[in-house]
Amino acid sequence: MIAFQPGRDIKVDSARIHQLLSEIKSDTMGGWYDLPATMSEPQGIAELDSIKSAAAQIQSDSEFLVCIGIGGSYLGHRAVIEALQPLSSTRILYAGNHLSTREYQRLFDTIGDADFSVNVISKSGTTTEPAVAFRLFKEKLQSKYGDAAAKHIYATTDAERGALHDEAVAEGYTRFVVPDNIGGRYSVLTAVGLLPLAVAGVDIEGLLSGAFAERQSVLDARSDAIDKHPIAQYATMRADLLHEDYDVEILATFEPYLQYFTEWWKQLFGESEGKAKQGIFPASVTYTTDLHSLGQYLQDGRRNIFETVLKIEHPTADEISVPKLSAGLDGLAYLEGKTLDYLNQTALEATVAAHREGGIPVSVITVPRLHERSLGALIYFFELACALSAKLSGVNPFDQPGVEAYKRNMFHLLGKPGF
Ligand code: PA5
Repeated sequence: MIAFQPGRDIKVDSARIHQLLSEIKSDTMGGWYDLPATMSEPQGIAELDSIKSAAAQIQSDSEFLVCIGIGGSYLGHRAVIEALQPLSSTRILYAGNHLSTREYQRLFDTIGDADFSVNVISKSGTTTEPAVAFRLFKEKLQSKYGDAAAKHIYATTDAERGALHDEAVAEGYTRFVVPDNIGGRYSVLTAVGLLPLAVAGVDIEGLLSGAFAERQSVLDARSDAIDKHPIAQYATMRADLLHEDYDVEILATFEPYLQYFTEWWKQLFGESEGKAKQGIFPASVTYTTDLHSLGQYLQDGRRNIFETVLKIEHPTADEISVPKLSAGLDGLAYLEGKTLDYLNQTALEATVAAHREGGIPVSVITVPRLHERSLGALIYFFELACALSAKLSGVNPFDQPGVEAYKRNMFHLLGKPGF
């Protein structure tokens, strides 16, 4: 379903990929590797049922669901919702991913007197930004619903530990668990992502089935054809390019609604690979917009960049064509009758060719259509490619020790006891 056209010649070391796949599968943080399969086993089906019934409850009693979380606890579901723009009676809002007063005021104004619920998502249960946001919205829930406030709170957190877990148990919130063996940025296909997605009207089983198919394609390739698999090729290419000092990767899309998908991708790769003073810096652009801002740098600037274009072959069934006008003084007669999509795909081809001529290794990842199945497959594709290329470069894809530094400083400045 996902095709990969590499930006340069590559030679996949099949034996090494096999070895790394086994390491990832058996890693204490590798639970996401088999997750699409475990979600179709009895325990997974029961979990999906609880998620769907909580989602139905929220849709029936809330005009808004405020999803509180940061990093891996919010980017994945936001990426899918923005990409698919599903329909639902409940609108999803996001909080806990910043500390901006203006932004909170805007959220409070948006909700106004409407009914709302909160899904607070934090694996550790101790992250400051979501914890503060939760306080803000809990106060609003308590003043609106009094003793019934807890019925509007859904907590997704660690199975056994953390302040949020303890509070959720004590207050009787509806609880969902982030499995111990799955870290934040690999958690979109757990309750972390699935509850908000189900509320937003996304077909969560479709998403999981896409991830399942992608995982199956890796298993099928394992015996003799792993070197042909797009995931192994993409991971190998990234590691090879880094070795040659190409240390910035730009993920480019031609669809603005994929902007949050690129945000999710940046977090996945940035937190997984950027450590021990190593790693590829993940950046993103949305074309054609950014051809008129970063395009100049990409075409002519330093040659430490490689580019990965995420191409959606048929982005929509809708068609908009350039209209015919009687007095065409704008010089666009040659475009009359052509669809916007044709223009966009032509811009993609032209950009890929120009950047290649400019000396950038440009790869293209092609997905035929954008729907739950293909997005689920893409999520799994990038998760596994990320873990593999981090390991090929010799770093642990599953920790994020660098994130602690700003937290320690902030706690010290804010006077947190013990800091
Ligand atoms: O990928 C990660 O592990 C991080 O981005 C976390 O998701 C993020 O820091 C939020 O952590 P938590 O869910 O513990 O609040």
